[in-house]
Amino acid sequence: MEFTNLKGFKDILPEDVRVWQRLESKVRSVLRSFGFHEIKPPIIERTELFSRSIGLDTDIVSKEMYSIVDAKGKSISLRPEATASVARAYIQHRLYDKNPVQKLFTFGPMFRRERPQKGRFRQFYQINAEILGDSGPRSDADLIILATTILNEAGLSGLTLYLNSLGCSQCRPRFRQGLQEYLSQKTDVLCSDCQKRAKTNPLRVFDCKVETCNEVVSDAPSILDHICQDCRGHFDSLQAYLTDSDIFFVLNHRLVRGLDYYTRTSFEFQTEHPGAQNAVCGGGRYDGLLKLLGGPDHPAIGFAMGIERLIDLLGDVGKGESPAPELFVAGLGEKAEEEVFGWVRDLRKAGIWVEMEYGSKGLKAQMKKADRLGAKKVLMVGDDELASGKGILRDMETKEQKEIDLKNIVNELKKVLQKNE
Ligand code: HAM
Repeated sequence: MEFTNLKGFKDILPEDVRVWQRLESKVRSVLRSFGFHEIKPPIIERTELFSRSIGLDTDIVSKEMYSIVDAKGKSISLRPEATASVARAYIQHRLYDKNPVQKLFTFGPMFRRERPQKGRFRQFYQINAEILGDSGPRSDADLIILATTILNEAGLSGLTLYLNSLGCSQCRPRFRQGLQEYLSQKTDVLCSDCQKRAKTNPLRVFDCKVETCNEVVSDAPSILDHICQDCRGHFDSLQAYLTDSDIFFVLNHRLVRGLDYYTRTSFEFQTEHPGAQNAVCGGGRYDGLLKLLGGPDHPAIGFAMGIERLIDLLGDVGKGESPAPELFVAGLGEKAEEEVFGWVRDLRKAGIWVEMEYGSKGLKAQMKKADRLGAKKVLMVGDDELASGKGILRDMETKEQKEIDLKNIVNELKKVLQKNE
């Protein structure tokens, strides 16, 4: 075939879409019970929104964005994540005027030009949930409880919640400087990326997968020993709320996440499943972002889950039964086919899923089709049935057949099908 999808992009075929929809409806119902409202920002924004929010030195901004220069010379990008857009919309539309605490969620595709592999795509979908306008540890706990509830409702178990605090604008610069000094003594064993990171964004060295860098950071100072008293109080309270809510977590001072806007709490739900990309959900607090984007000095926290990764982990559990039509109407002969077309149209108006054959086929072929579709019942009508005014209704499961009056057939069928006889 001449055309196939691009590497890292994939078609979500009808069978898979059903799994997605089932998951999405569960997630929506949990989000509703936590009082979250949907927002749909565009998938293209000015490049600067992302570079300023996520950080110029991050992999996402420096290597992975799909950017183009438009006809007016403006650089625009496909969104690599949704938080920056939600923050922009919150500021632009002054959402805080109506309600000082906004709980927003969004579903949709994100784009990152990463090296594709299992569980890692260039277009992938996220569920994002953000609480804007609250600074206390209770909103951190509520958000983590929300993520846990979604993962449980989806049917995922065996995930580990890793928790860290990245400090604030008061304590992090001091830690950063100390870390930089430590790393400067280890430059010769760091990979070339980390040699740069050590200068520009030293916390990112914690995230490096290269063995020698790993060894270096295993002896590095821990941010959890260096956060200020306020951050410590916030982090301790969050842990107490989580423990009180029976949410198990593991402290991980190396969890720095790949986006620069984080402050204080950062967390990730990871799977130990071999061969999978381990992060299923990641998030944290970003108290400085709204101000950085020219908005009010409001705090915020949020998370995003990768839908492909969730579905992959669900495996067959997510699949469920394929939906099937209530009825197949088999018309035999031109006259019956014409009648059937009208009946099917009218039954569908009543919201009943009915199928028919578009062409002219014999009974055997039509029964085969009804069977393939999994139709629960089949109405068979030919010239003889039209003449006698009685069609034959077959129950495909019990194989039972009975006559049904064709006068007023649409209402007759509605009665039978809606009663689910
Ligand atoms: P993130 O950690 O970059 O955070 O992405 C969140 C989740 O999206 C990951 O845990 C993973 O499940 C999924 N994901 C990321 N990249 C890919 C990929 N290439 N292929 C498939 N799935 C992927 C964020 O995006 C932040 N905006 C989260 C956030 C919201 N923080 C605060 N609010």
